[in-house]
Amino acid sequence: MKVNFNKPYFPKVMRKQILKDIDLVLKNKKLMLGEKSKELEEKFAKKIGSSLAISVNSATTGLQIALRFAQVKNNEVIIPAASFITNVNSVLFESAKPIIVDCNENTLTYDIKKLKKAINRKTKAIVWIHLTGYISPEYKKIIDLAKENKILLIEDASHAHGSIIDGKFAGTLGDVGIFSLYPTKVMTAGTGGVMTTNNLEIFNLAKSLRLFGRNINSDQVDKLGNDWFLDEVRCCIALGQLNNLDKIISKRIEAANYYYQNLPKDISYKMLRFSNSSISSWYNFPIFFKSVKKAKLVRSLLLKKNIACKNIYKPIFEEEVFKKNNLGINFPQAKKMLASSLCLPMFTDIKKSELEYIVKNFKEIIC
Ligand SMILES: Cc1ncc(COP(=O)(O)O)c(C=O)c1O
Repeated sequence: MKVNFNKPYFPKVMRKQILKDIDLVLKNKKLMLGEKSKELEEKFAKKIGSSLAISVNSATTGLQIALRFAQVKNNEVIIPAASFITNVNSVLFESAKPIIVDCNENTLTYDIKKLKKAINRKTKAIVWIHLTGYISPEYKKIIDLAKENKILLIEDASHAHGSIIDGKFAGTLGDVGIFSLYPTKVMTAGTGGVMTTNNLEIFNLAKSLRLFGRNINSDQVDKLGNDWFLDEVRCCIALGQLNNLDKIISKRIEAANYYYQNLPKDISYKMLRFSNSSISSWYNFPIFFKSVKKAKLVRSLLLKKNIACKNIYKPIFEEEVFKKNNLGINFPQAKKMLASSLCLPMFTDIKKSELEYIVKNFKEIIC
């Protein structure tokens, strides 16, 4: 048997609906900013409980727009050390300085003490990622720190479509939420992004910047924008996915529960812990080994059994663009957390037989 790491979810009924919608778009010849983007944005906002949502062509674009709103140019933006490289790139695109802060390996996000220390007069935004779909149990501390210091809190919810904590959806916890619709994500449009916010100014800026910087009240281009909207065809795909998000999440939860119940209890590794009021989208299913060496060994043995698995990310601090910009080298907790992580296959329609095969082989390796 061969098990993929990740696969998009497009069952027949969903495909049929998407194709019907695309056909209508093509028939009506309105390929941009039409009925479908409006429907996607309204349904997305309603689903997660934000007052506004706006579609864009990627999460990276969404980050850049949020940073522009925060007026970060020549100022500083805080980013967690366990993040994706475009978190850094988007700050550099906006001519600001990324300040990289180490993580707490138990919450998968900021070490709160280090976050506090990194804030200063030049800090204009904090980017906060719900890595693997997990919302930190310390989330209130992050929100409070941003509020107390009047810093824009940008939630990168690219892994967290449908993640919830204390009744609130990811994407509604900060000032602006950014979701990716990249092919590997919990829901996809091929590629694309959605921003969520209660702030009309952010919404209006996004509306303008995604269409070359054209003023929303006149047709003057008065800002430096780009061709950043999400076309109608991809909105049809995103809608097909969004309409099935509940089903997608419940299937992923089912797979995660299978892992929790059937992976052997072993002191060499640990799994994420959840309170009763926290739900993950299960973008990834990560476990964390005490020893980096063991994580590497288990990964390579699973790969030999044709079970695709990875660590959460290649660290951003190992990327050339990071080094060239001298963004720091000392992130011991993030380094250890990423290197000791092992993400097992997780996708919406993973089969019981695939889960059984993974667990059987994992047990043989561990025990
Ligand atoms: C946490 C996170 N943020 C942002 C992105 C970038 O998303 P996009 O490709 O939609 O720009 C990714 C990438 O996949 C990601 O994992």
